[in-house]
Amino acid sequence: MRLYKNKSDIQGFITHLKDKKRVIGFVPTMGALHAGHISLIQAARQQSDFTVCSIFVNPTQFNDPGDLQKYPRTIEKDLYLLELHGCDAVFYPGVEEIYPPNAGPAPHYNLGRLESILEGAYRPGHFQGVADVVSRLFYTIRPDKVFFGQKDLQQCRVIERLMADNPDFERIRMQMVPTLREPGGLAMSSRNTRLSAEELRKAPAIYQTLLYLKEHLAPGDLAPLQEAAKIRLIREGFRPDYVSIVDTSTLEACPSWNGQTPLTGLIAAYLGEVRLIDNMELV
Ligand code: PAF
Repeated sequence: MRLYKNKSDIQGFITHLKDKKRVIGFVPTMGALHAGHISLIQAARQQSDFTVCSIFVNPTQFNDPGDLQKYPRTIEKDLYLLELHGCDAVFYPGVEEIYPPNAGPAPHYNLGRLESILEGAYRPGHFQGVADVVSRLFYTIRPDKVFFGQKDLQQCRVIERLMADNPDFERIRMQMVPTLREPGGLAMSSRNTRLSAEELRKAPAIYQTLLYLKEHLAPGDLAPLQEAAKIRLIREGFRPDYVSIVDTSTLEACPSWNGQTPLTGLIAAYLGEVRLIDNMELV
């Protein structure tokens, strides 16, 4: 497995791959890898000739500096896992490699309503940071295919929008890979390592609550169902930011269901100090 820390070095190698018409699959990550990330690597390997993974804890997408500081960093283990699972190259840049000190301010990305709903409402600036770093990574790696986890559904919608709005990214194909779960249903996430044993025991309640939404969904007013789900979480000791039933394609809230539109349930809630998110297609 090749390891690159400099943009120019990996770009040189990518040019060589492009000359040989190799299909490049790309998995951007912030490290602290778990089985969910490995499923992205596996999808990339199946569908490309050459798999690149980036590991970069992007400071600009953390609206809470404490969260950035506490973000788990496990580079040795990450490299071991990537090698074990057949990743071909890793891009592991420092902050100044991605954000050169003399470069001007980051461009503004028009993300429409995605920026102000759900995660956008609770994490101001987060998706601008994601769009900016992903755009910089795409220009560096020039992938043919990119792989993102469905757990971050709104992030996937942001990336789709970023790709649709930029002709340079027009030819990139994105695949959203289903969420991997622990045996109790907890969605795999790098943040889970920050949960105590007691919190880990409680955490699957988010998944149970999504199942509850799915089981009780019926045409008509959806507010009582969302409220009941929120109360379930509060009783389990969570502090929910939102429990929302939305239109799956736009992620816009769906106050009342016509029995036809595909819907997704999304939850963001604190358990102790850790903020967890999850989602499930309801219909
Ligand atoms: O999902 C993540 O890990 C990050 O948001 C991403 C896409 C690597 C951008 O920093």
